[in-house]
Amino acid sequence: MGELRGTHVPVLLERCLELLAPALDRGGRTVHVDATLGLAGHAEAVLERHPDTVLVGLDRDTEALAHARVRLARFADRIHLEHAVYDELPEVLERLGYPAVDGVLFDLGVSSLQLDAPDRGFAYAQDAPLDMRMDQTRGVTAEEVVNTYAHPDLARVLRVYGEEKFAGKIASAIIRERERAPITSSARLAELVRESIPAPARRTGGHPAKRTFQALRIEVNRELAALETALPAALDKLNVGGRMVVLSYHSLEDRLTKQALADRVRSKGPVDLPVELPGSGPTFRLLSRGAELPGEAEVAVNPRAASVRLRAAERLDPTAGQQGRTDRERYRRRVKAMHQPGTGSTPGSTVEPGATPGDGSGTDEEGEGT
Ligand SMILES: C[S@@+](CC[C@H](N)C(=O)[O-])C[C@H]1O[C@@H](n2cnc3c(N)ncnc32)[C@H](O)[C@@H]1O
Repeated sequence: MGELRGTHVPVLLERCLELLAPALDRGGRTVHVDATLGLAGHAEAVLERHPDTVLVGLDRDTEALAHARVRLARFADRIHLEHAVYDELPEVLERLGYPAVDGVLFDLGVSSLQLDAPDRGFAYAQDAPLDMRMDQTRGVTAEEVVNTYAHPDLARVLRVYGEEKFAGKIASAIIRERERAPITSSARLAELVRESIPAPARRTGGHPAKRTFQALRIEVNRELAALETALPAALDKLNVGGRMVVLSYHSLEDRLTKQALADRVRSKGPVDLPVELPGSGPTFRLLSRGAELPGEAEVAVNPRAASVRLRAAERLDPTAGQQGRTDRERYRRRVKAMHQPGTGSTPGSTVEPGATPGDGSGTDEEGEGT
């Protein structure tokens, strides 16, 4: 287990605790899943605040788990720390005998432990072997990706996962270089990326290799595929009143989160009925207004928080049956207002781009409800 370096401040900690509290404080034992345990900063705070809560902590990184185990030693009688990818959550819960849970937190991306480790290759700022696997016990390394992928595949990875404008140029430079000698170090790759980007573009948007490293990390760890499966699976496991909070650090993660939640907060019944048909109403309500951003004060002390986007939702009681109807009525009122002369109002006009009317994301009317 490597030594911990630097500071490790859990992102949006107080907000996460505030959102999870009603789900975890319900008199009697509750179960909380930390799907991305990392160094257990969030998990420790949850266990401290909720003495009746049992924690199921998952991480695919064995080193992070070892650190978390030490940090959480005083809670040993109510923690289960599991080496697993978060899309394996249903199997983990079944094995532990928890059919449902009350809280779930996803704090996505890499931990400071991984970024700071001199030997894991996540950081373009320090030279290391090109590994980038969060789970060093299995899977392909970034070195294998850069030295074996064909040009179109490499360019696609950089363009889609890194949103890199110069994906084609960088992929060509990688292919040329590896024909001379395999690319094995993060410093060589970072330099190659810098050289392939036109000089004016090097001066904007942070370090030129940032997007390439992000893209390779996502590819190596199959991050988006795992997330796409894990989010609905985790939502399915929540008890009524249970809550899920997701912290994303780039737009692809946030988009998947938004879609997974939108699918649950939307009524699936015909829009012109005054009441929900049985089983067609929303099963969740949003607790966040659009994506919540960090405050300036937090970013000042914790630069890792700068790109965070928080979304959260709560499972509804299917027997209460009011929420979907309320959403329909709101939607119909907006449609009606739009057709009245002189109002200029449009349905969903306060909804952030891409949200569907009645999905509640980003509307002024959606209470945060904690
Ligand atoms: C940002 S850190 C979590 C930090 C943690 N909340 C804390 O307070 O210390 C993200 C962690 O999630 C883990 N992780 C990322 N993707 C994962 C996945 N698909 N399955 C399980 N763990 C994953 C990483 O190994 C890393 O340790």
